[in-house]
Amino acid sequence: MAKIGVLVSGRGSNLQAIIDSCESGYIPNSKVVVVISNRENAYALERAKKHNIPGIFLNPKEYKNLEDYSQKLICIMEQYNVELICLAGFLLKLSENFIHRFKGKILNIHPALLPKFGGKNMYGHYVHEAVIKSGEKESGCTVHFVDEIYDHGEIIMQKKVPVFKTDTPETLAERILQQEHKIYPQAIKKVIEDLRLF
Ligand code: GRF
Repeated sequence: MAKIGVLVSGRGSNLQAIIDSCESGYIPNSKVVVVISNRENAYALERAKKHNIPGIFLNPKEYKNLEDYSQKLICIMEQYNVELICLAGFLLKLSENFIHRFKGKILNIHPALLPKFGGKNMYGHYVHEAVIKSGEKESGCTVHFVDEIYDHGEIIMQKKVPVFKTDTPETLAERILQQEHKIYPQAIKKVIEDLRLF
């Protein structure tokens, strides 16, 4: 059984897609065993609760710095024997220690076609605004491994969607989100098989 830990900050629709894919068996022999949020009111925590998955709010304000916070994250992941970590709309940067501890086992999804429109401060509506402003004809989403640099690690899977002249950041985000919910589970399934985690 591959044990997955998910880090979230908000709505959690990708978390939901991952939980559903584990429960349906689309991602075989796998289970989300813990969900951790840096925001207390993240709806993602409610989603975890509904599936009887421990949902933990870990308050960054209670830690001296990013290093200590990430150290606590490592402890929780180890406590739950997590083997694969999925960032699903998690907006905090992880420490280098955290990344080294789980190197090659941390995945993220980004709502654009990396390496374009990635990096620090490129998240949420900022990404879609930048894509529309630059006149791109297509955008999409990318699942990649996480390394020390924002949105930089090896790409696992991408899906393109068209950008229409009439698009607003919201309509484009919605079109991309529908694809995110498909490729994140696909990519997780692939990584679990490649790493033989089950
Ligand atoms: C998604 O667009 C994802 O690509 C980005 O943050 C958003 C999270 O949405 N990293 P949700 O919380 O999964 O609904």
